[in-house]
Amino acid sequence: MSDKRRILVTAALPYANGSIHLGHMLEYIQTDIWARFQRARGNEVWFAWADDAHGTPIMLHAEKKGVSPEQLIEDMNAEHQRDFADFGLSHDNFSSTHSARNRALVKRIWASLTDAGAVSTRTIEQYFDPERKMFLPDRFIRGNCPKCGAEDQYGDSCEVCGATYDPTELVDPRSVVSGATPVMKQTEHYFVTLESFRDSLKAWVRSGALQDEVANKLEEWFGEALRDWDVTRDAPYFGFPIPGTTDKYFYVWLDAPVGYLASFAEICEREGLDFEEWIRPDSPTEMHHFIGKDIIYFHCLFWPAMLEGARMRRPTGVYAHGFLTVNGAKMSKSRGTFIKARTWLDELHPDTLRYYFAAKLGSGLADIDLSLDDFRARVNADLVGKLVNIASRSAGFVHKFGDGKLAAELPDPALYQRFVDEHEAIAADFENRNYQLAIRRIMALADQANRYIDEHKPWVLAKEEGREAEVLAVCTQGINLFRAMMTWLAPVIPQVAATAAEFLDSPLDHFDSIQSPLLDHRINKFKPLLKRVEPEQLERVLQASRESLESRTPAPTKNSKQTEKKTVNDKASKPDSTSDIIEFPEFAKVDLRIARIAKAEEVEGADKLLRLELDLGGETRQVFAGIRGHYDPAELEGRLTVMVANLAPRKMRFGLSEGMVLAASEDGGRPYLLSPDSDATPGMKVK
Ligand code: MSP
Ligand code: ZN
Repeated sequence: MSDKRRILVTAALPYANGSIHLGHMLEYIQTDIWARFQRARGNEVWFAWADDAHGTPIMLHAEKKGVSPEQLIEDMNAEHQRDFADFGLSHDNFSSTHSARNRALVKRIWASLTDAGAVSTRTIEQYFDPERKMFLPDRFIRGNCPKCGAEDQYGDSCEVCGATYDPTELVDPRSVVSGATPVMKQTEHYFVTLESFRDSLKAWVRSGALQDEVANKLEEWFGEALRDWDVTRDAPYFGFPIPGTTDKYFYVWLDAPVGYLASFAEICEREGLDFEEWIRPDSPTEMHHFIGKDIIYFHCLFWPAMLEGARMRRPTGVYAHGFLTVNGAKMSKSRGTFIKARTWLDELHPDTLRYYFAAKLGSGLADIDLSLDDFRARVNADLVGKLVNIASRSAGFVHKFGDGKLAAELPDPALYQRFVDEHEAIAADFENRNYQLAIRRIMALADQANRYIDEHKPWVLAKEEGREAEVLAVCTQGINLFRAMMTWLAPVIPQVAATAAEFLDSPLDHFDSIQSPLLDHRINKFKPLLKRVEPEQLERVLQASRESLESRTPAPTKNSKQTEKKTVNDKASKPDSTSDIIEFPEFAKVDLRIARIAKAEEVEGADKLLRLELDLGGETRQVFAGIRGHYDPAELEGRLTVMVANLAPRKMRFGLSEGMVLAASEDGGRPYLLSPDSDATPGMKVK
């Protein structure tokens, strides 16, 4: 490719405050697939990345552990890097925002902002902890909700009624750090005046850098005056001191995105690239940021404003994704669905998660659900059943009849051409981050490939005298279809692809190489590429996640005053360690239905279970209920009860359980099956 694009790509910098979990991994896998795809297209790609090391939570966390913040961020950095390497992420650098280079770059940008007249100062009043002698971020103040009175709520929003407010409105406020009652105290702060960037920001928003939904949101924000951005935090704080002050620091969100560039500057030095050429306003290079929907404001207003003020290039693209839920609900420590990256890696192949996320990711902001049953079914059916199967069914015969060498031509070039014809469409899907569409196309081709093998039955031909050449031809076709699909999937499942490349004795790292098939080419012995995912592995992941319960620490704050009511909140990333209170929308997700017990019988080998056939008025569901010994099955038949109809089906030793009936009981006591009035209709929704 002569018109090679030059691309800098980043993923949001994880806080150096805690372990990486699967929510982070959704973004990092999304980013990595894109970076690998761009490389496979022959572009120049630099994936610059780092830990986000500053802020009050990190300072307090280090204090609690009895280590210095420097030590804490160094340990976390090492842990993060291990997780990322094992997930096959292909970043070119992993730095820290607490680096000398970042400090220098922040200083340079700050000086430009000041010169441009985009910095102002003013005295503000903020809650102060008189015992710890520190100003308190909103998340470090708790009290009673001013709207609904709920106790023990954060200083910025109520988890019970959803209200957002100013910490000064809290009733009975207290400091999370010391428990003391905070007092109001004055302090002088520096602000970046966003209004001065309004016009250039507006132009940038319409430059095509943003998803439509995000651009619309920004247009809405432009409808009001842009409030000045408070970029100051008073000592004690872990961060970079503001030049010319002794007790004031840059707010973590000022130096964090600069960390993208500082990490890239390290790459430039290492690789001999011209950093200044990449960051000048009219640079012919590209800069793309992948982020979660909770940090749009920082990346689409503050960051481009800073770059503009510093007379640097603005992002070519900022792409926000939705949040990860597990089994249909926000990740929860009590349910064992707050899964750390390492816990996953201990049990499962990283490419299985990469594949599943790819199969679900579109280009928009929709949340993504990791349903563990669906995950297992999908990976086993698609990767093991369809993809690997083609290679494993073909490889043996190539060795048996061709001495390991593929035939000199394809028996069905038209079929191969149909694969090649999908090439540009698949590439466009990857380019547009519509991975689910790319996967759908590839899997439709996998069906065609399997159909081809099934129709030509090499294992039958192989038994017939004198048809060796035919078998070899069919398998050469199979291997080539496999190779094309593996080439497209290599950015998604790089470790599987690496093993496949060894077996094919041919690299899979260039998209265009599929234009010509592999012929007259010696392949190596087939190597198992991927094992089936077993239910026990997932059980163990949930179990291990339940065991690693941690105590509650305030999450780093992301809300900026201006956006609290406007941005999509970041609640989904936080564990619901309280878990006994749920919001109505969460409850409303449970689909409760009236069901008629059409059939009830004892299950052989399970002394607690009855197998129920439930009539939902047209649809029949099988459910196993732990009520045996408490009800006579014959008497249950015909009775109405209430069932959860949208529970993910669960495969049990005795068959599939497709829901659950509701019963009341005291711990260890007998169950009481719920029943509606006898004239309710099966299938009716319970509200
Ligand atoms: N440190 C900031 C980012 C600074 S970028 C200059 C931060 N860190 S974070 O660790 O909280 O989140 C890192 C990224 O992971 C964010 O883009 C965030 O949206 C994403 N996710 C965190 N939890 C997530 C889910 N549950 N689901 C999907 N993405 C999630 O924000
Ligand atoms: Zn409230």
